[in-house]
Amino acid sequence: MSKNQVIQSAKKGLRGEIFIPGDKSVSHRSVMFSALGDKAVRIRNFLNAQDCLSTVACMRALGVEIEQISDRELIVHGKGLHGLSEPATIVDAGNSGTTLRLMMGILAPQPFLTTFTGDASLHKRPMARVIKPLTQMGARLVGRGGNTLLPITVVPAGKKLQGIAYDMPMASAQVKSAVLLAGMYADGKTTVTEPYTSRDHTERMLESFGVALEKKGTSITIERVEKFTSPEAIEVPGDISSAAYWLVAGSIIPGSELILRNVGVNPTRTGILDVLQAMGADITLFNERHSGKEPVADIRVKAATLHGTSFGAEIMPRLIDEIPILTVAAMLAEGNTVITGAGELRVKETDRLQAIVDQFNKLCPCIEGTADGLLVKGGAKLSTAECFSYHDHRIAMSLAIAGAAGQGIAIEEADCVKISYPEFYDTLADLAK
Ligand code: S3P
Repeated sequence: MSKNQVIQSAKKGLRGEIFIPGDKSVSHRSVMFSALGDKAVRIRNFLNAQDCLSTVACMRALGVEIEQISDRELIVHGKGLHGLSEPATIVDAGNSGTTLRLMMGILAPQPFLTTFTGDASLHKRPMARVIKPLTQMGARLVGRGGNTLLPITVVPAGKKLQGIAYDMPMASAQVKSAVLLAGMYADGKTTVTEPYTSRDHTERMLESFGVALEKKGTSITIERVEKFTSPEAIEVPGDISSAAYWLVAGSIIPGSELILRNVGVNPTRTGILDVLQAMGADITLFNERHSGKEPVADIRVKAATLHGTSFGAEIMPRLIDEIPILTVAAMLAEGNTVITGAGELRVKETDRLQAIVDQFNKLCPCIEGTADGLLVKGGAKLSTAECFSYHDHRIAMSLAIAGAAGQGIAIEEADCVKISYPEFYDTLADLAK
């Protein structure tokens, strides 16, 4: 994969069938939870991409044996809830916020010291959102910038953590998961309440390890866990956040027809389907089934005339990672699109709202940024341009689809797609043949 990438206009449309790579969120959790389990777990359809490999590296540094059986299959030899050991060196979470935040929840109750680092992007991302509730539970975490930023050291608390009732200021599966994971080790009950429900992969997977959770509205309660019983195997569903590029490309590029196989359709993730369908997309789900506790389906998408729409805070956690690619759909739709309640995008791998305004507008000046969203003027006539990815995988892939839908594009620092979708450009080239 080259650092810079030129994408040609896909004049004939995109056609073909794609097996969607494993879900990033579920892959992270499958390794973390299996590491804490009571036996070896075979993980199938693991996402073999840089972010998830950061989780594998962290768990190995904590003494967990992980065998890579093949490209997409791992065996994780669980050490039990109390079996992790002190890492000999600083642990690197790379570009992965999920790795760092969930690992802080797992490590806060451990009787040893761990120091985390990460890449330049992760050093800028807010960590107080996790450090604050964990500290309330009695954990000791010390970070740069007044305990808000990497590097962060998790110091042994020297006492058992205490359960808390925590009202999260934002909907975030990473924060929710970190608190629930620490709650497995805490005395009493730990309850997290979100403003809106974020992805629930942690809850579903904890249940498959035999943990009982109490759910009420947007609140989840966990009690101290004594038995953490691993399943034999975990089958990771395909990532709807990766399928999203093909859902939009197949909709906006005339002449397209795509079949997407094995897409995870957990209702806490399917906001993109709701928005595209509201925009007039021709999307059909079939072969609906389950992969462990996660619902999956195959999806057919055909080119259609899209029209503008509005959406905001309530649906945001269900499509948080899809705003860049939905913006591309909105640019090519008839009429305008208004996106609100998307302030969290400012603290992703890059400030995604700013990146969209700065780079997508090079293709056609049709997007205005607001404090927490975007106003997109539809009917864009895209020209070709040289655009920068800001080393953000989702910005790079969205730019590539915009280029394929328009007059082509040159993307600077394009190889960041290896974070979540290493074969993305090859798949795009195959579908455009
Ligand atoms: C994730 C949660 C989301 C999402 C991220 C993965 C997870 O982040 O953007 O890509 O696996 O829990 P937040 O929880 O910070 O919104």
